[in-house]
Amino acid sequence: MNTRTFKLSGKKVGLTTLVSLGSTALFAQDQAGDGQMFVVYALLTFVILVMILVIVITFFVVKVINILAERSAREHAEKTGIAYVPPPSWWQTIRQKLTRATPVEKEEDIILDHSYDGIRELDNHLPPWWTWLFYGTIAWAAIYLVVYHVGGWLPLSTEEYLAEVEEIQKLRTSQQVAQIDETALEFTADPEFINKGKEIFVSNCASCHRNDGGGGIGPNLTDAYWLHGGSVRDIFAVIKNGVPEKGMISWAAILKPEEIRDAAFFIMSIQGTNPVEAKAPQGEIYNANDAPGEVRADRVVAKASVNGQ
Ligand code: HEC
Repeated sequence: MNTRTFKLSGKKVGLTTLVSLGSTALFAQDQAGDGQMFVVYALLTFVILVMILVIVITFFVVKVINILAERSAREHAEKTGIAYVPPPSWWQTIRQKLTRATPVEKEEDIILDHSYDGIRELDNHLPPWWTWLFYGTIAWAAIYLVVYHVGGWLPLSTEEYLAEVEEIQKLRTSQQVAQIDETALEFTADPEFINKGKEIFVSNCASCHRNDGGGGIGPNLTDAYWLHGGSVRDIFAVIKNGVPEKGMISWAAILKPEEIRDAAFFIMSIQGTNPVEAKAPQGEIYNANDAPGEVRADRVVAKASVNGQ
């Protein structure tokens, strides 16, 4: 066994450890859900610490073995009378491979035979690190050309930019209050909407209208009497625009249009439930034939101020 085999094996162990370390981290990111993140991070930290420990121990073991091997090679050389030449370190080997530099003692071999005012020129090799970098840029240019221009598999920066702009614009329109056409809104007893609406109602509206809509600070929402009309479009409009001067705020800035719709659907679904100790009727009896969704002047003003139009 000579020293170089030992050195190589040490490097291999280190490399394998690093690679497996990297893949552990990747897997952890891929598979864990939000709730398990803490456990994953704790485990990952532990694994990384163990890996570092293993690397450090391997490094020192390899170092000791190298020293022992060198000592025995030196003794062997002394016994046989051959002068001991220490093998180059891995760093020296790498540097030589990367630069192909001619040692100073051998410069006579590569000196060119002209002299300018005593300045003479060495015919050095191009350093391999430089040539490979150069070839690398050529290969990269070819790959780039094929991927971006010939194949068009990845978007150019202009396309990327335009796609982002489009995404933002989509996001903006989706947040606009006008997204749901309230003048054409129809009630459908879809349990999905109604259940969402119930959640929204309980967390935002129940403090004034009670969980069951029986009323408190705000009016009873389960009876046939309405201050602002009892069609789903009327209810949508009241929630969206509010009646600020009477203590019912506008929810347009707090709830998304589809949340307002869901809350309105929930209110529609509790019509006639007649909860215990409900608030006395307020307003007029609502008749579905009385021009549903009629936009009244007082609400048009409120709507305009909400939309800032
Ligand atoms: C701070 C108390 C308060 C909260 C919170 C509140 N409201 Fe109201 N709400 C009122 C008051 C007061 C009125 C009566 C307004 C009036 O007199 O014109 C009202 C009226 C209404 C009306 C019209 C009733 C009618 O008779 O025409 C609806 C519909 C309504 N609220 C739904 C909601 C919804 C949905 C929420 C939650 C997103 C909500 N309210 C949150 C106080 C509140």
